Amino acid sequence: MNVKLKIPLFYILIASTLFQNCVQKDTTTSSDQIVFEVKADDVIAEIQPTMYGIFFEDINLAADGGLYAELVKNRSFEFHTPLMGWMQPKTDRHSLNRNSGMAAVILSENEPNDHFARINVNSAEGYELINEGFRGMGIRENENYRVYFKARQQTGVTGINFELIDEQDNSIGSTRVALESKEWDDYQSTLKADQTAEKAKLKITFEGNGVVDLDLISLFPQDTWKGREKGLRKDLVQVLADLNPGFLRFPGGCIVEGRTLDKRYQWKKTVGDLEQRTTLINRWNTEFDHRPTPDYYQSFGIGFYEYFQLAEDLDAEPLPILGCGIACQFNTGELVPLDQLDPYVQDALDLIEFANGAVDTEWGALRASMGHPEPFNMKYIGIGNEQWGEVYIERLKIFIDEIKARYPDIIIVSGTGPFPDGEHFEYARQELKSLRTEIVDEHYYRNPQWFLDNADRYDNYDRNSYKIFAGEYAAQSVAIASPDNKNNWECALAEAAFMTGLERNADVVYLTSYAPLMAHADGWQWTPDLIWFNNLNVYKTPNYYVQQLFSVNKGTHLLNTEGSQSIKGENHLYASAVKDSINREIIIKLVNVAGHKQNTSLEITGVALANEAGMIELSSDSMAAENSFENPVNIAPESNTFEVSGNTIPVILSPQSLSVIKVKYQ
Ligand code: AHR
Repeated sequence: MNVKLKIPLFYILIASTLFQNCVQKDTTTSSDQIVFEVKADDVIAEIQPTMYGIFFEDINLAADGGLYAELVKNRSFEFHTPLMGWMQPKTDRHSLNRNSGMAAVILSENEPNDHFARINVNSAEGYELINEGFRGMGIRENENYRVYFKARQQTGVTGINFELIDEQDNSIGSTRVALESKEWDDYQSTLKADQTAEKAKLKITFEGNGVVDLDLISLFPQDTWKGREKGLRKDLVQVLADLNPGFLRFPGGCIVEGRTLDKRYQWKKTVGDLEQRTTLINRWNTEFDHRPTPDYYQSFGIGFYEYFQLAEDLDAEPLPILGCGIACQFNTGELVPLDQLDPYVQDALDLIEFANGAVDTEWGALRASMGHPEPFNMKYIGIGNEQWGEVYIERLKIFIDEIKARYPDIIIVSGTGPFPDGEHFEYARQELKSLRTEIVDEHYYRNPQWFLDNADRYDNYDRNSYKIFAGEYAAQSVAIASPDNKNNWECALAEAAFMTGLERNADVVYLTSYAPLMAHADGWQWTPDLIWFNNLNVYKTPNYYVQQLFSVNKGTHLLNTEGSQSIKGENHLYASAVKDSINREIIIKLVNVAGHKQNTSLEITGVALANEAGMIELSSDSMAAENSFENPVNIAPESNTFEVSGNTIPVILSPQSLSVIKVKYQ
């Protein structure tokens, strides 16, 4: 059954209606001086190192076709249409065997990736097999590329040429590999590109007539993140690193759950030998009729080991989320009966062993064999993504009991479902309070006005309840998952206002992350997204800069700002204040959503201040403004410094701006 992700019309209508009302009314005169009181000697709470993190999901070609630097699509012929992504331009479809040659994909005896290509070359003109890459291949002049493949010589074919061709079919680099074995063997070679191309292809030609079997044909840039062979795209990881994330949540998102149980994400199938990782159709392949992506599959080149490694590289806490025996409830909602949940629970227990276990345990040994004998020191595990109802709570209880019995220190992250309010949300909230789940994931995909209205969401939150993981949020300029949603300044500014509220409640809000994280400009399914990239370039959205400004300025302790006039939207102003006890800095974030300047006065008590302050500002005259490949810094932070005298700092806030004021204290 082909079931689509259905966003109830009700939610879409509410979202669109509220969107109409979200432009701020300009009622404040710029001459009013608005006072922000910051008691620097009154610490409310520690800011958790995990306060601002990242949510990674293989949606929008974020992993295959994105972060994972593999350039060949369908490298082992495992897609449902086994030659998808491969072209045979010289083949005459009406007389396959009688013409220059053909590729047939056949089943081999080798599970689990059980297909390979049998190439039959039978003409002096030669035969070509071309891989189109993920919307082309991004190739850079003077860079080295590594070709890897498996081959078994049957008859006649003595060598293979690998050639990069640009958009006009000109050769921009090549290498030749001689075939040596009648058995399956691994081959590799290097080629250097003499030109840059955004949408290159890999052309494979053959020497001699005869038959050769090919499998796992890969092409990677040599220059990957940390120089790891078959690794990650360096430019994209750098953009993640620049966010200074406190945690990395993976692998999703809905991708965790699967449209059916059978198609759920199973971490054990993503670790160990690359060749043994079974290709799986990506759930976003067919999810939206308006954005079908028939060539979207998961190779699991980035699997759980690579996610843990990435978290470690980013100095971020790993936060894996596992399925809990419920397929996506927007799709089939298939359920594992409670008395058959054991394998699912065992997956969670084994994951903890894989991440943290000694090298003489079964799963710790696998981790060690992959190159990481030291534990990854995983502290958190998420059970279920966007599940709701009794079916979730009763399954979650079983996971909690089993995990806590073996690993009492592991922190369990549960969820309240896809929406931040309503019947399912309220039910989950009540139930979760009585369970041993320390942190609860809430999702807010709402219009910009909702974000402004909810800056005080946690002000009256029950301090004796669980901690909050604002695990997925993004202001939607049109409606949830609408293809017309924009990463515009209006949305980014509303998120900034909301984030001051998260920060002001850092005693209960422990983790936060925007979602989704990444999107390929030619292969996305969901918008808005924090980071947009193509095969060669990447740009940061205004929303990214908002996240970054909060994250790199998160400080260590939340300060008391209660005496302030306008921190929750009064006068269109939102604010929070922290101190960084390591750098001995007071950091104040101010969001002005009004269309005019505002005179403010920051009155910082309890410490002696330095005589210079820094100000970083993100603003735009236009709420509709966006960044783009052509103008990546249309909206980007600008910094300056100014003199300070005493403990009162006058600051003029630009219209529609996020300002971060930083001043050292003695
Ligand atoms: O972020 C995109 C999707 O939104 C996630 O996969 C899911 O958890 C949510 O519905």
